[in-house]
Amino acid sequence: MTPDRAAPTALDVDAVLDDRGTAIVICCGAGGVGKTTTAAALALRAAEHGRVVCVLTIDPAKRLAQSMGLSQLDNDPREVPGVGGASGGRLFAMMLDMKRTFDEVVERHAEPVRARAILANPFYQALSSSFAGTQEYMAMEKLGQLREPAAPDGSPQPWDLVVVDTPPSRSALDFLDAPKRLGSFLDGRFVRILLAPAKAGGRAYMRVFSAGVGAVTGVLSKVLGAHLLDDLQTFVAALDTTFGGFRERADATYALLQAPGTAFVVVAAPEPDALREASYFVDRLAEDAMPLAGLVLNRVHATEAPELSADRSLGAAELLDERGEHPLAAAVLRVHADRMQQIARERHLVRGFTATFPKVAVAQAKALASDVHDLDGLRAVGRSLAGEGS
Ligand SMILES: Nc1ncnc2c1ncn2[C@@H]1O[C@H](COP(=O)(O)OP(=O)(O)OP(=O)(O)O)[C@@H](O)[C@H]1O
Ligand SMILES: [Mg+2]
Repeated sequence: MTPDRAAPTALDVDAVLDDRGTAIVICCGAGGVGKTTTAAALALRAAEHGRVVCVLTIDPAKRLAQSMGLSQLDNDPREVPGVGGASGGRLFAMMLDMKRTFDEVVERHAEPVRARAILANPFYQALSSSFAGTQEYMAMEKLGQLREPAAPDGSPQPWDLVVVDTPPSRSALDFLDAPKRLGSFLDGRFVRILLAPAKAGGRAYMRVFSAGVGAVTGVLSKVLGAHLLDDLQTFVAALDTTFGGFRERADATYALLQAPGTAFVVVAAPEPDALREASYFVDRLAEDAMPLAGLVLNRVHATEAPELSADRSLGAAELLDERGEHPLAAAVLRVHADRMQQIARERHLVRGFTATFPKVAVAQAKALASDVHDLDGLRAVGRSLAGEGS
């Protein structure tokens, strides 16, 4: 037998949540691993430990949203009733409305007339609701707003902890990369080429430079349609004068992620792809000097009978089969053997991760029997993460 690799250090979830210095918790990870569930479970647990928390969720399942009192996309956090009790903690929750957040950015930074023009622009409308990266950018933008001491109407924001879920991207890295990509797209050469004619007075410019830049925009105008190109040029020109550069804005929001008090939680399922994705992300956080609290391993399997090994269980099932006795018991023994093998595979994967990242602490949440769609389900995930068992 090969010597067993060391088990991971346990991530003390409660220590992170109870530390008043923790101001932002960001749950990242590959698609479908449980980011939304983890974000909501951590936020609820922190609130029940006495903190005043706001959780920013992205595309939560409908039943989960309803259980937090969220019935529609709503860009303002709402208090979740029945949370906190004697601890004094409170929980506010919201679902990100990507388009509305983008509109708010425009409305906050542009003169009313210009803002109206941008909002009505078809290119803006397409970009704000569907451009790849917009959701990630807007999640960061919203996080920035939630961390401001006062709401736009001037009232103080009550929470001292913001827990952020991240969009359902294929790759966890998209959350960090997409805003910069969007920023450099809007600030980049492509757009500057498009922008030049608008700055120099529209179509007249195209006639003068018909051989150079004009040729590029000419082709583009055939591909995109002259109208769309005009829309894009006017839109970018308006944004440019309004924001003085999207990239700088993306950079500023990015800096928030490196600020003291931010804790990244990388969520993964105990599966090779999700753990590989988590490894890339852990490397990247280190490169970018972003603080990692640890890895959340979600939907880990467990058994009530750990002393009965897979081999013994299978052997007993075979014996029963041979004798033609107790078919139901034999079936249960086989299920148990499968479960034990799965637990062994999961353990092996986690130890592989820990061998590469010995300093990354790990918290595990058991796979519950059913989906997590209410506050009790979230509480159970929270307890499991904190190592309390259930
Ligand atoms: N520990 C768990 N036990 C049982 N079910 C779980 C657990 N964690 C998450 N789930 C379920 O798995 C599904 C996916 O979870 P979730 O929506 O949190 O993932 P996600 O990472 O946010 O997905 P996406 O990338 O699509 O946003 C949901 O139906 C959720 O209820
Ligand atoms: Mg999600």
